[in-house]
Amino acid sequence: MRATSTDSVSIDPGYRGGLAIPGWELFYRGKVRDLYRRPDDARHMLMVATDRLSAFDVVMNETVPDRGRVLTHITEYWTRQVESWLPAARITTDPAQVPGLPAELHGALRGRTTYTAEARRVDVEIVLRAYLAGSGWREYEKTGRMWDIALPPGLKNSSQLPEVVITPTTKSNEKDEPITWAQAAALIGNAADAETIRSLALRLFAEASTRCASRGVLLADTKFEFGRLDGKLVLIDEVLTPDSSRYWPADQVQPGAEPPSYDKEIVRAYLRSLKDWNRKPPPPPVPADIIQKTRARYLEICRILTGSLPEGVHG
Ligand SMILES: Nc1ncnc2c1ncn2[C@@H]1O[C@H](COP(=O)(O)OP(=O)(O)OP(=O)(O)O)[C@@H](O)[C@H]1O
Ligand SMILES: [Mg+2]
Repeated sequence: MRATSTDSVSIDPGYRGGLAIPGWELFYRGKVRDLYRRPDDARHMLMVATDRLSAFDVVMNETVPDRGRVLTHITEYWTRQVESWLPAARITTDPAQVPGLPAELHGALRGRTTYTAEARRVDVEIVLRAYLAGSGWREYEKTGRMWDIALPPGLKNSSQLPEVVITPTTKSNEKDEPITWAQAAALIGNAADAETIRSLALRLFAEASTRCASRGVLLADTKFEFGRLDGKLVLIDEVLTPDSSRYWPADQVQPGAEPPSYDKEIVRAYLRSLKDWNRKPPPPPVPADIIQKTRARYLEICRILTGSLPEGVHG
């Protein structure tokens, strides 16, 4: 869907067909982000966060207005908080600073684009957990451990862990599989870099947890991705967004119960209530009130974490 006005182009931000950006090629479509490159420059790319929404790994037909802007705003916020000690691959989120980006698209892309150096990705998801939840909880329920990590008996869903742990997974096009830290270190390539990633990730998690706690939010878990730029380790991809992290309202966490998370749980709950959807494409229609509630939830966590909303976004 595309509408043209006199001086700018407005797009349907969920644009399911991919936006044509003159001079750029769309070379990858994630569930949420579209990645573009200029044919003569393999060292940089443009990440466009759309408003697409996926649940159970299926992209819904509906989009959540401003979701891509919220995700970009939160990543940018955290990246700036830590940039003095943690280098990131991203260069700018200002469309006007992106070389060769047609001016008529700046307005439509503002707030949802990240121009970044293309790093050689480390194919490991660095998952950190402070609380038992999701796949970690399911594993503990079954085995009393979290894969190779021993845990005390008697923990419940959403119990705090004795200490923050890293439970890495592979990063692949297939399903991400849990691996040991030794396997992660082998994929990272050498012991020194593995140790650097480990300590940077733990420090980032600790700093983010402290900030969140001061705002009444618990950071239950998250995942980071790293890459190499000229041999140097840098942070890549989204950082501490509600898509990559579990944030919980601190006053609503009760071990044994699943706390309400600040993400697309509203959509997941709705989809779970449908008896006749097999969690494969095509997705069922998602009602407008579910979309609106999900949007409100994203705006709420954006405000709590960053103290602001993306430019031009109103609650
Ligand atoms: N600076 C960077 N250098 C290299 N790769 C990057 C960089 N930043 C992000 N990436 C990669 O770009 C992709 C971003 O797209 P996106 O997150 O939408 O898709 P995805 O993670 O592959 O799949 P999913 O839809 O499950 O999230 C990821 O594969 C991420 O690892
Ligand atoms: Mg991703």
